[in-house]
Amino acid sequence: MKKPNHIILIIVLLVLFILTSELIEFVRNNVFYFLIPLLLSLSLIFWKKKSKLDTLLTTFILIVFLAARLIFSNIDQPTLVLRTSAILSFFLLNLVLLIGPWSRFSDKILRLYYFRRRLGVSAFFLGWLHFTIVISKLFNLNIKNALSFAFTFYGFTAFFIMFWMALTSWDYVQKKFKPSWWNILHTLLLIAYIAFAYLFYTLQKTLNNTLLKYHLYAIAIFVVFWIMVAPYSIVKKIIKTNVFGWKQLHVLVYIAYFSLIVHVVLQGTLKGIFLNAVFYGLIAFVVGSHAVGWLKKINEDNNINKKIKSINKKINEDEKTFIGVAYENEFQESIGKKFYINNKPIAVFKHQGNFIAMSDICAHQKGPLHKGRIVYGYVECPWHKWTYNINDGCSPKPYTDCVPYYKTKVKDSIVYVSTD
Ligand code: FES
Repeated sequence: MKKPNHIILIIVLLVLFILTSELIEFVRNNVFYFLIPLLLSLSLIFWKKKSKLDTLLTTFILIVFLAARLIFSNIDQPTLVLRTSAILSFFLLNLVLLIGPWSRFSDKILRLYYFRRRLGVSAFFLGWLHFTIVISKLFNLNIKNALSFAFTFYGFTAFFIMFWMALTSWDYVQKKFKPSWWNILHTLLLIAYIAFAYLFYTLQKTLNNTLLKYHLYAIAIFVVFWIMVAPYSIVKKIIKTNVFGWKQLHVLVYIAYFSLIVHVVLQGTLKGIFLNAVFYGLIAFVVGSHAVGWLKKINEDNNINKKIKSINKKINEDEKTFIGVAYENEFQESIGKKFYINNKPIAVFKHQGNFIAMSDICAHQKGPLHKGRIVYGYVECPWHKWTYNINDGCSPKPYTDCVPYYKTKVKDSIVYVSTD
């Protein structure tokens, strides 16, 4: 597992980021001149490290800032960076949300899955840039004053969630955090959000009652969603969802996303048919992709369960119960299939004449192992490439991670998997 020293690096980077962000007036007034060399250096570092996607991402951000400067040459630097970083942050957040559903349709996009985290952290840093300029330029660093406006309250909600997501997205944190810590953090953040919402409510002087009522509805929806994905949620237990650990925190990205939408709409900067069409078209595409992705998953799961029911075979051997899951000839060499046994998702591979079965849930961030490949005797997770031995489901030394491993049998051309 990665060593904790990169946490120190992250802290140093964050401190540097604060120092070079908009809180210092000189930096703020010349922010563009600070930003361009920073992005250029990052692109070169990634390029030297042969990290293609990182190079592409930083170069893309760099080009957008340069293009914005060329197009809007008469705007002052803080305003230019404030607007460009906001657009880029929202765009990257949309990409983050699109990779998930589209990876159900395309293996190429599935291979991009590991990059989602980098996109999310980049969206956060751009959001931070935007946030610090707004707070210093428009509100003179007065957070209370900023929170009294509805549009800043929603922007702040998104920033707050994205901050905690970025902070907890590192492997070291995810490895070290015990499940109970995620539960505590999830609850503490909910309490903090309710406190911010209450502050926003008490600071309202200009909003009429009808508008205030709508804001309270939106806050109530966010709080209900927050509770629904919480560790103690009854809904989660009923629908048997496996949103837990870090994921229950990161699923709050949907609150961040809808808060950003409200933030943009309330600002009233969406002028003209073209801008409105792009903005709402993108949102419709994200929402539609999620809906279609979920329908596909439900359909696939139903087919898997129907298949097992149609085989309807069970054997008891070696003090274990084995369930028939599919016919031998339905497997392709080294290509995984997913099955549910006692509601547990299990990945089954045919490899060099043998059948291998292990949990479908990767120990890292619950990636779908059945979509992975077998490389040199290890199943490789498609998301971030953690690997598990095909003989015992454990990662190669010195790593200590294992996923539940199951025995298999083949009888009368039917592949059986043990229940434990
Ligand atoms: S989820 Fe990250 S490697 Fe599997």
